[in-house]
Amino acid sequence: MRSARLSVKLGITVTAMCAVLVLVMATFALASIWRQLDIQAKDGLEEKLSQVEHSLAEGSSSIADIVLHPHNLRDQIIGHDNLTLTIMDSSIPRKRLLRLGEGEGEGDEVEQPVPKINTSALEFKEINSAEGFETLMAYKLIRLKNDQQILVILTLDRRSDYTLLKAYVKSTLIALPLILLLVGGCAWWVVHRGLKPLRAFRRVAESISARDLSHRMKVQGLPEELSDLAHAVNFMLHRLDGDVQQLAQFSDDLAHELRSPMNNLMGTAQVTLSRERPPHEYKQVLESCTEELERLSRMVSQMLFLASVSQPSAPLTFSSVDLQDEAYKVSELFAIAAEEKKMSVEVSGEGKVLGDKLMIQRAISNLLSNAIRHGSPGSIVTLGLSTLADEVILAVSNVGEGIEAEHLPRLFDRFYRVHPSRSRQQGGAGLGLAIVRSIMSLHEGRVTARSELGRITTFSLIFPKAT
Ligand SMILES: Nc1ncnc2c1ncn2[C@@H]1O[C@H](COP(=O)(O)OP(=O)(O)O)[C@@H](O)[C@H]1O
Ligand SMILES: [Mg+2]
Repeated sequence: MRSARLSVKLGITVTAMCAVLVLVMATFALASIWRQLDIQAKDGLEEKLSQVEHSLAEGSSSIADIVLHPHNLRDQIIGHDNLTLTIMDSSIPRKRLLRLGEGEGEGDEVEQPVPKINTSALEFKEINSAEGFETLMAYKLIRLKNDQQILVILTLDRRSDYTLLKAYVKSTLIALPLILLLVGGCAWWVVHRGLKPLRAFRRVAESISARDLSHRMKVQGLPEELSDLAHAVNFMLHRLDGDVQQLAQFSDDLAHELRSPMNNLMGTAQVTLSRERPPHEYKQVLESCTEELERLSRMVSQMLFLASVSQPSAPLTFSSVDLQDEAYKVSELFAIAAEEKKMSVEVSGEGKVLGDKLMIQRAISNLLSNAIRHGSPGSIVTLGLSTLADEVILAVSNVGEGIEAEHLPRLFDRFYRVHPSRSRQQGGAGLGLAIVRSIMSLHEGRVTARSELGRITTFSLIFPKAT
């Protein structure tokens, strides 16, 4: 099943959250409006009742007075449509003496619930009417000048408060779907817009192939989260591009390297076969072919070794290696080659590292063979060991014509030779230093080259110090 789009999911989630929020807020608002209206109603009744009390104290001295001259009291409630003033006898059973306001003039059948009350304190009572709204009553016992007691009841019809609340609820319910639609739409739009850069990612991904890795993400204008991602993607593409180019270059170089010896072999064979020859000539040709084939086979095994070092099939187990021991061993192997050029090899210093013994021997012998090959006849090649705070260095130095600075950075590339034709004659395929570099990176170290023209050339193997 295809999962829903992120923008739709987020739109729905935000809408649901907003719905809950609006409902909670509306409920709170409703409760506090109702409380406020309640307080207002009670305050209003209390004030009105004290005005009525005041007017009774001033104008009426007896019950008869009140019944005969109600206009004083009528003034008090005039203009308040929702107020009713009822005066009752204080004796029990209570009898209604007067009613002003709503329901005035109706007979006793308009039943007022008569409160049982004995103190002269103000009291409230809420009564729910049959129509569903509330009536609020405030009542108080009042003593007249002639010592007669009456019960004054003020009744407030709260129909208008109910109407107000109903209108509030209605408008909230009407506005809610509109608000939600708006919020959901906005959320969808914001997310949809926010994800626009991802579509650019997709376009770049679609246009990338092994043949064309040149596309890059535009980082400018992206939000921070995505610009980090774009940087990472661009960096990855950059690396892949470099690797792919290197690979292409490598196969190019390889074909090139193989072509000339093959052509040589083929040419020699064809020329030899073109006419009958005495046996010793065939022997000569076969010998020279064998030499060329040996060189080819050396190159192939070097390449296989390079591949195995660059991408080891199993994790290597390193052991402690005494570099001094290895330096002596390798220099013994090259003793004859050195002697042929009247050269000598000296080992000095000491150092121990963690590593693979055979590989380290191979790295040292690649450097030493170069040093002897390129060293001046009669000179000394030194293998100097030194142990620093966090590095162990093995430096192979020889005196000779040296290497021009422009070649130094590329010296460790596969098949790179300073003098290609001369080097080839000497049997070098330009893989020796590439192998050294791969071995060093396997040991988490590095190899550097330094050269003064006509003087000393030094290659240093730099190992991390064993801990
Ligand atoms: N000690 C040295 N003195 C001068 N040139 C050197 C020295 N070591 C290496 N080189 C140069 O570096 C190139 C690459 O060396 P290397 O990878 O060992 O290839 P190869 O020995 O097969 O030619 C050599 O062709 C040579 O020109
Ligand atoms: Mg070499």
